[in-house]
Amino acid sequence: MSFERACGVDDVKPGEALATPLDTPSGVPVAVLRDGDDWYAVQDECSHAAIPLSEGDVEGCEVECWLHGSRFDLRTGKPTGLPATEPVPIFPVKVEGDDVLVDVTTPLNDV
Ligand code: FES
Repeated sequence: MSFERACGVDDVKPGEALATPLDTPSGVPVAVLRDGDDWYAVQDECSHAAIPLSEGDVEGCEVECWLHGSRFDLRTGKPTGLPATEPVPIFPVKVEGDDVLVDVTTPLNDV
């Protein structure tokens, strides 16, 4: 695994998401999302169309895309609400000190 710094802990309030400077190996941006003290990292692009999920609403362990309302489970990447039918890649994330680290090279799901 190869963790890189995505942002600081204080950069993301609980219930919010942030577009990070990190990209997947295929060049797609990665977002981090926070639910209380739980952190998630996801490809920052809805699987329905190229809309950043970091601009969506975080509710519990789900994010809702603002354009058409698709929802994704951040623990699995699977859609839980239409119109999206395909999952989005999710990535390992951990907090070390004040830093949020993401491994963009090792997706946690098979997408
Ligand atoms: S672009 Fe995200 S639901 Fe349509």
